[in-house]
Amino acid sequence: MNQLKRLYDNNVAWAEKIKKNKPNFFSDLSKQQSPEYLWIGCSDSRVVSEQLVGLQPGELFVHRNIANVVVPTDLNCLSVIQFAVEVLKVKHIIVCGHYGCGGVKASMQSIEHGLIDNWLCHIKSVHQKNEDELLAIDDETKRLDRLCELNVIEQVNNISHTTIVQRAWRNHKELSIHGCIYTLETGILKDLNVRFSEINDTNDIYQLRKDKKEIYKPNLTIMETDYEGR
Ligand code: CO
Repeated sequence: MNQLKRLYDNNVAWAEKIKKNKPNFFSDLSKQQSPEYLWIGCSDSRVVSEQLVGLQPGELFVHRNIANVVVPTDLNCLSVIQFAVEVLKVKHIIVCGHYGCGGVKASMQSIEHGLIDNWLCHIKSVHQKNEDELLAIDDETKRLDRLCELNVIEQVNNISHTTIVQRAWRNHKELSIHGCIYTLETGILKDLNVRFSEINDTNDIYQLRKDKKEIYKPNLTIMETDYEGR
């Protein structure tokens, strides 16, 4: 017996239900996708990206990983951002965290969990950066929830620093990065009111205002002479 029978059956029922309302839905969608939003969320099975914002297939480009972390060495995530911004031309990048995140919780513990601890180091850095605020919160659950929020804010910042986003802004593309957080107990999404929409929203040190080719002009004459002289 196919161990995934329930899933295949569900799939047929789902496709039929959609086709009943919109007979051309899948054939139209197969021709192209033009989502307006890139969603970067936690892999947690309870945080169902499209469903919780009421969007249909084709409306949300999605990347999920443990604790919705974005770091500039993660080629997987950066490739998603580049494709979304430069090819799909999404106008909004949404980082969505959630309260009670297991990844964030694990990052607060002094327990070795294995390989994942290397990933969680990124969240430990957020903790360290905000130590005064976090350690002033006595209630452990509230402290975890605040770190979940701060982690989202950090990732919104990180995205705004990427060459991809900096280039888009330099070229006057309409692109905003937003942070929000989901409550598992209520199903409600909260806007964290962190929003970057232009290069001036980022700290000066991260602003990449010029292309290298605009300022880097190697002296070819000297280089050629040097080469011939050898
Ligand atoms: Co999580």
